[in-house]
Amino acid sequence: MNPNPWCTILMLPHPISSLYKSAATALPFRHSPPTLLSPYTYLCFMDDRVHEMVDSLVRSCAPFFLASVAMLLGFLVYFYLPYWRVRRVPGPPTTFPVGHIPFLAKHGPDILRVLAKNYGPIFRFHLGRQPLVIVADAELCRKVGIKKFKDIRNRSIPSPATGSPLLLKGLFLLRDSRWTSTRNIITSLYQPAHLASLIPTMHHYATSFCHTISKIQRNREDVPISELSLRLAIDIIGKTAFGIEFGLLDDDSSDCCNDDDDCDGSCFLRQHTYSISSLKMDLSGSFSTTLGMIAPVLQKPCREIFKRIPSAADYKLHQINQRLCQRIDAIIAKRSSEMTRESKDFLAALLNSRQTRLAENLLTDSYVRALVYEHLIAGTKTTAFTLSMTVYLVSQHPEVEKKLVEEIDRFGPRDLIPTFDDLHSKFSYLDQVIKESMRIYTVSPLVARETSQQVEIGGYVLPKGTWVWLALGVVAKDPKHFPEPDVFRPERFDPAGDEEKRRHPYAHIPFGIGPRQCIAQKFAIQEVKLALIQLYRHYVFRRSPRMDLPPEFQYGLVLSFKRDIMLRAIQRADD
Ligand code: HEM
Repeated sequence: MNPNPWCTILMLPHPISSLYKSAATALPFRHSPPTLLSPYTYLCFMDDRVHEMVDSLVRSCAPFFLASVAMLLGFLVYFYLPYWRVRRVPGPPTTFPVGHIPFLAKHGPDILRVLAKNYGPIFRFHLGRQPLVIVADAELCRKVGIKKFKDIRNRSIPSPATGSPLLLKGLFLLRDSRWTSTRNIITSLYQPAHLASLIPTMHHYATSFCHTISKIQRNREDVPISELSLRLAIDIIGKTAFGIEFGLLDDDSSDCCNDDDDCDGSCFLRQHTYSISSLKMDLSGSFSTTLGMIAPVLQKPCREIFKRIPSAADYKLHQINQRLCQRIDAIIAKRSSEMTRESKDFLAALLNSRQTRLAENLLTDSYVRALVYEHLIAGTKTTAFTLSMTVYLVSQHPEVEKKLVEEIDRFGPRDLIPTFDDLHSKFSYLDQVIKESMRIYTVSPLVARETSQQVEIGGYVLPKGTWVWLALGVVAKDPKHFPEPDVFRPERFDPAGDEEKRRHPYAHIPFGIGPRQCIAQKFAIQEVKLALIQLYRHYVFRRSPRMDLPPEFQYGLVLSFKRDIMLRAIQRADD
């Protein structure tokens, strides 16, 4: 018996011996093969050659093969390590390598409500490689946002944001002591006296908003309330944050730009829109962003390559982000030169606050640029969404509309501008309506945080670096705190009512929770209130038959509309 396994294998029975010959002739013998040999001799002769060949093949391929196996194992360890660290937290099965991203893209954040029902108030959800620990309970939100804030004070940085210097230097993504110091400076700029001083500006734009609607109404056209609300919000941020006039509520302003150099407002906004729309929580972003969800370690090198290839999405995004930075720098330079002590905008306040050495060190030009630009990102779609969904919900509930209009009329003549105090004390029902619409449609349904120490939440030990996301949208529909959670009933927020008194204090947190909650909450509510007061002084609304029901949304950093919300404006009889 030949000890060589290859020879043993090749010692085949007679019926197929004819094959050996052809096999042998096909082999690359260095010398001519003997002609008349029995299959056995033939094979023994072949044995050495085959053995040699296989040997050398194995020798040359082995390192490659071993390296591939090692790489595969390495990748699997790398890929599954974050999961392994939180494996005890329950969660649905995932799909390799995308996790639950397709779920989120298809169903939006509502899918989390279903998961919370199945897995409880704390569960796992995977964005590609990255597991999120989702917290969907008011008391647990308090624990994450307040009680354990010291250990969970940073935000996790999602893959779409990692490449943007504008995003990384904004307050939203600042970390640790830099965040604390910057937040302290900015908080001082959002004091009630400052907000009160912005009322005339906000009222001015709310009036232009109504004029635009009246033009549309006179032509008997539908009002694209979501689009107009966004224009209003951008105009207000333009003036209050940058100190410039975008003029989007003016006629034809969106067409004013033909040449890249002499269009300030609209080109800037177009670039902003492109940049912001690339921040998607699905797999439709640039190649490096998508890769970042699966193998974050490769995202940066990949972006560095692709941003040099003109046909790549990374290239376009990089170019646009650069141009955006240049434009913001130009605005800052211009505003710095013409600024006076009376300037009320955020940029002026920020530049003025560079008095102390600490502020000067913190507020370098690139940080000022990011902090001002952040207002456009954080403060436009959010307020516009809230405003338009409130008008939409009221248009579907005439009994709410009647009470609201009565309260607004009770306040006084139509040209009376409410003061800061009026807005707080004389519009209790308006408050309830806004809260309820933010509960039904929570524009920021997920709030991202990350542990900086090992910490225990809801009975699970979460290691340092765990992404903990608060599901505000799920908490807002928890039937424990909101009976019949899908019914729009502003009275549930009546401060004198039992439901409101009994409710958990953190069951309704559309602006987040704790020291890291939205810095401009009061600014946003002031803007929405002034716009609604102005609107309902002149109009009531009904859904346009041309609008699809129910409204559909897409999820990027916040919720936004797939299609416009279209309403019919009806001029009030006594207007
Ligand atoms: C209806 C409108 C708005 C909603 C619903 C909203 C919601 C939120 C939420 C949920 C957070 C995260 C809070 C947390 O982590 O606990 C946040 C943070 C933030 N928001 Fe707003 N926001 C709105 C308007 C605005 C406006 C108008 C601005 C600026 C002018 C703004 C600027 C910010 C900033 C800078 C942060 C980061 C705060 C930090 O990390 O310290 N937001 N917002």
